[in-house]
Amino acid sequence: MAEGTADTSDLSTDLCGIELAGPVLNGSGTFDAIAARRVFGDEVVSGFPFDCYVSKTITMNPRPGNAPYRLWETPSGMINSIGLPGPGLDGFLERDLVQLAEFDVPLIVSVMADRVEDFEILVNRVAEREEVAGIELNVSCPNVHSGLIVGEQPSETEALMKALRPLTAKPLIVKLTPNVANPHEVAMAAESGGADSVSMINTVKAAAIDPVSTRTWLGAGAGGLSGPAVRPIALAQVRSVASAVSVPVIGMGGITDAESALEFILAGARVIAVGTENFRDPRAGALVSEGLPAALARRGFASLAEAQSVTLD
Ligand SMILES: Cc1cc2nc3c(=O)[nH]c(=O)nc-3n(C[C@H](O)[C@H](O)[C@H](O)COP(=O)(O)O)c2cc1C
Repeated sequence: MAEGTADTSDLSTDLCGIELAGPVLNGSGTFDAIAARRVFGDEVVSGFPFDCYVSKTITMNPRPGNAPYRLWETPSGMINSIGLPGPGLDGFLERDLVQLAEFDVPLIVSVMADRVEDFEILVNRVAEREEVAGIELNVSCPNVHSGLIVGEQPSETEALMKALRPLTAKPLIVKLTPNVANPHEVAMAAESGGADSVSMINTVKAAAIDPVSTRTWLGAGAGGLSGPAVRPIALAQVRSVASAVSVPVIGMGGITDAESALEFILAGARVIAVGTENFRDPRAGALVSEGLPAALARRGFASLAEAQSVTLD
């Protein structure tokens, strides 16, 4: 049996120094914990579906998001062009962060900017808050031009990390875009710039044509595909990145249940995140956690740690 957890029912794990009761996170922007509590009540707090909460990506200034329409359903997935609507840094720190701290799990705050100077302000002001366990740097969102540029270029990614790394001892996680030929090169650059972890995949560049109007459906013209449709792409990229870097990988892309979560762990992810599935079932994260012990046992693993230590040929 591998070192660490003693049996399949103990899912506790570590993510670059953050102690987690289990390996299930949410994908940024796919579960609004504050709205969920408003709608479903305090049972969202007592039975929170994730072992760690990742906030929606926060920007310096409030943003309205993209023009409608913002969603399009595809076979086994969806395209979104939400465009990072949000309260901006001040609004997030004053209102949202206080409410998010009431959920009894570690909190990772996702941030994005189109200038290094703004990234520095975001990281400084978020990291100094004791409610925050770690920061995810969104350099991969296909809806905002500037983020794509940084995350597409290894040199840009490394330069950003070198500027941000000295600002905090808290874990810095780089969220990778799948929209590059060789994501492992960007991951290696993130690691060499000082990233503690990489998370992947963000959405895959996509478009939808409205058959009635014959125009593009999404207000922004294009968006990002997510859900089970992207899972094989995500698995290939997680596998390639996990074998290229030594920092832990947070794997996501189309996870719907414990079996698909386990696929990501076997591909090299240390922990996983549930994204689009949360829109279909807000309890999806909890169902993944509940199903994992049996899924591990069915595949002959004595513990989560044993599955995490697998290296595929
Ligand atoms: C509606 C929607 C909003 C999203 N917003 C963000 C975001 O704010 N920041 C981010 O890094 N990723 C965002 N994502 C990407 C997800 O976190 C995740 O990386 C991606 O959807 C792949 O996982 P999935 O197939 O399980 O959804 C968003 C995805 C969706 C569907």
